[in-house]
Amino acid sequence: MLPALAELQQAYAELQAKGLKLDLTRGKPSAEQLDLAEPMLALPGVGKHADDTGTDTRNYGGLDGGLAIRRIFAELLDVPVEQLLAGGNASLTFMYDVVAFAELFGFPDSPKPWAREDKVRWICAVPGYDRHFTICEAFGIEMIPVPMTPDGPDAKAVAALVAADPTIKGMWVVPTYSNPDGAVITDDVARALVSMPTAAPDFRIMWDNAYAVHHLTDDEVTSPNAIALAAEAGHPDRVLLFASTSKITFAGSGVAFLGSSAANVAWYKKHLSAASIGPDKVNHLRHAMFFDSADGVREHMRKHREILAPKFEAVAQILAERLGGYGIASWTEPKGGYFVSLDVAPGTASRVVQLAKEAGIALTPAGATYPYGKDPEDKNVRLAPSMPPLDEIRTAMDGVATCVLLAAAEAQAAK
Ligand SMILES: Cc1ncc(COP(=O)(O)O)c(C=O)c1O
Repeated sequence: MLPALAELQQAYAELQAKGLKLDLTRGKPSAEQLDLAEPMLALPGVGKHADDTGTDTRNYGGLDGGLAIRRIFAELLDVPVEQLLAGGNASLTFMYDVVAFAELFGFPDSPKPWAREDKVRWICAVPGYDRHFTICEAFGIEMIPVPMTPDGPDAKAVAALVAADPTIKGMWVVPTYSNPDGAVITDDVARALVSMPTAAPDFRIMWDNAYAVHHLTDDEVTSPNAIALAAEAGHPDRVLLFASTSKITFAGSGVAFLGSSAANVAWYKKHLSAASIGPDKVNHLRHAMFFDSADGVREHMRKHREILAPKFEAVAQILAERLGGYGIASWTEPKGGYFVSLDVAPGTASRVVQLAKEAGIALTPAGATYPYGKDPEDKNVRLAPSMPPLDEIRTAMDGVATCVLLAAAEAQAAK
């Protein structure tokens, strides 16, 4: 049984009286994490601007990006180096540009540019990443939610939809430690998605491996190699992979990657070449020198883990202590990534976020994890514990728990 409403109202009044100013909204690395890569800024150093091939990285050219950093991430992402591009600092830009090029020009196997189709639809596993949904919305692509499961998107639901509807042109997948629920896609689900028949000849999976190396435990999982599996299944061009060092080095000045079939990479480069002579190769070289190898990246990520894991442990511990046993909430305990997905009593997520806000705790808006910001059950809240210091996480989570209980008690009282 929940504590009495009056008791929870009293606890909430005390919470408000603390005058907190805490923020759990976005999955940003903390300053302490950013500091880990600070020595990189001294690289490459005067007179050390040449890459492996002798090219002066300060100059124009090299549309594919620096070879040394591509080699390192080719190993980490399991993509042949010649099929992996290194670009600017944001993988989101790669994703946006792929959709933009498809809209303007179509893929080589598109009957026509997507913008000339009467309708383009897209599958979004929910809960999911709000900025993926923003890209769809920006192009007027109609989003169809399918349930996310602990094994990845519900492959049966996806297969049924795409088999019947040629307007469905693609889907998002976050294969490793997905945003927000931390799920890692299984081999079976990956195989199902890359091999399913699709009514659209140019169906694409946007495989956003943003958290490929972002482990929080010793169990350093890897997600299936979708590009290779798709080729095996006879759909070599179905998968485009994205990743970046945003949460490895600097979120504002890292390196983003795009990997895919040789044909998709050539298609992308053809359109990119009208927009750019080449990316920031000095930054690519700086990253390659800083890491030296794929193992260098893995080592570096263990330092991130030391900072992040206690924060995630604190979230799990406080949620269990404060909310366990009432049957009104459930939450994920991810083994990596940046988020905890909290499901509160149905119909109360907006109220929880509002109560938290009025107590000085900023949470991601309720509904943000659903297309068009509409969570049909109004129950999902995304928690992002990476940025605040540990003591603030504890205070914030204790406050969030009070808000979850109060919102549930209010809803019960209103019945
Ligand atoms: C799933 C996912 N993809 C991409 C991004 C952003 O990537 P980038 O910084 O490379 O644009 C994020 C950031 O939170 C994310 O959660």
